[in-house]
Amino acid sequence: MDKVVVSIGGSILVPGDKDAEFISKLAEMLKEVSKEVQLAVVCGGGKTARYYAGIAKELGGDTYQQDILGIAATRMNAQLLSLALGDMPDSVTDSTKETADRSAPGNITVMGGTVPGHTTDAVATMVAVDMKADRVVNGTAVDAVYTDDPRNNPDAKKIQSMTIEELGNIVYKEHGASKSSVFDPLGVKLAKDNRIDILIIDGRNIEELRNAILGKPINGTTVNSH
Ligand code: UTP
Repeated sequence: MDKVVVSIGGSILVPGDKDAEFISKLAEMLKEVSKEVQLAVVCGGGKTARYYAGIAKELGGDTYQQDILGIAATRMNAQLLSLALGDMPDSVTDSTKETADRSAPGNITVMGGTVPGHTTDAVATMVAVDMKADRVVNGTAVDAVYTDDPRNNPDAKKIQSMTIEELGNIVYKEHGASKSSVFDPLGVKLAKDNRIDILIIDGRNIEELRNAILGKPINGTTVNSH
């Protein structure tokens, strides 16, 4: 049975529009596919994380202190998904090892962030390393990796398949300019070292998520680490 870790962005889980409806559909699909693959899910913080980190910054909080607020938001989102899975709060842990250890066929484990200094994409990859997972599915707000930013460059092309080294070149370059990149650079490094594939897909599209989890063809980007 394949083992898969899903990293689902907070902007996907709780964008502020029909959130309960989406989380409920997502949970239903996850329960269905958990009969075919062993699953763990890591939830991001989205707007809530940014809002609280922003206030912490205004109050004079440093990056570490802002991260602590961000992590709290990711954990709230993990509890929402766990609630929808019908296993709240038992499916949620704060440890990547525990999340990996407790995940079993038909038993989905869920978590948010761990410690300051990285994002939940990195946490998902850490769980994947502990679980010896086959792939990390990154359900995000962009539907794939592009040759350039499609919002600024109409000639930007969707990349269907790339190597982990090519993704590394993109995220290490991006990371200098801004904190937010298509995948956390630490996660890319861990995936490369441990030969874990990364699929970058539109997280609002439940069918696309299902296909990525099951290893079927996707519209997003497949990053090969093998
Ligand atoms: P996210 O993983 O949601 O980060 O964690 P992000 O990439 O900014 O969010 P999306 O994908 O665009 O929605 C939110 C914030 O929580 C802190 C970081 O500050 C991160 O930006 N965090 C999260 C940590 O410090 N450690 C963790 O393990 C997880």
